[in-house]
Amino acid sequence: MAINTARLDRLISDLCQINRKKVRLVLAQKRVYVDGVLATDIAQLVDQFSHVVMDDEVLQANQTHYIMLNKPIGVVCATKDEKHKTVIDLLAGQYEQEILDNLHIVGRLDLNTSGLVLLTNDSRWSERLTSPEHKVSKCYRVTLENVLTPDYIDAFTNGMYFPYENITTKSATLLIVSQFEAQVTLTEGRYHQIKRMFGRFRNPVVALHRDSIGRLHLDGSLKEGESRALSISEVTSING
Ligand code: URA
Repeated sequence: MAINTARLDRLISDLCQINRKKVRLVLAQKRVYVDGVLATDIAQLVDQFSHVVMDDEVLQANQTHYIMLNKPIGVVCATKDEKHKTVIDLLAGQYEQEILDNLHIVGRLDLNTSGLVLLTNDSRWSERLTSPEHKVSKCYRVTLENVLTPDYIDAFTNGMYFPYENITTKSATLLIVSQFEAQVTLTEGRYHQIKRMFGRFRNPVVALHRDSIGRLHLDGSLKEGESRALSISEVTSING
């Protein structure tokens, strides 16, 4: 999702329906504050979350939203779907439609995968979590049809070649929890990645659940389908 930045003179011109010449005058008269700081530069860059005040009137004060959801199986990670309930449908009633319309999903899960899904309207925040350079780990609990053996561990660590995309998966961690259960940590999110990796061993995934994304852990008090806003410390935890 793109970050929408614009020049301050353009934003004020659009919001107040005045021409840029007049905006220049308004700025020169020191009547505008951006995020509490006097703004005089017409070319200053602002975005949809910049707090813009002119003559003590708030022109723009869009709020950021950060939500964690415990996604049940059978709910699709999409904003709209003809056949299945979506993660946005699960939030309806708790947030105004305008907020729901601006949310995007931070790292999708398959229809039959459950667990932690993050939603936000802050694309800078979500890019920090999803861009490959930051290598944010995602931790999954996996239940398998057949018994796990120690040779899986090296195969996950060494990476697997996926001919369709012509890539080798990044080093992943596999911890054998019990005969049929593993914990897998990935730092990327290829299409059906975990199912395909266990597919190499002809070992079908019976259940898949995401527990965490980076430092953000699914709140154990959230029942399937429930959600809550992230705390400020959770929102900022992604930076450290
Ligand atoms: N790997 C999968 O196969 N499915 C998911 O939903 C997430 C990771």
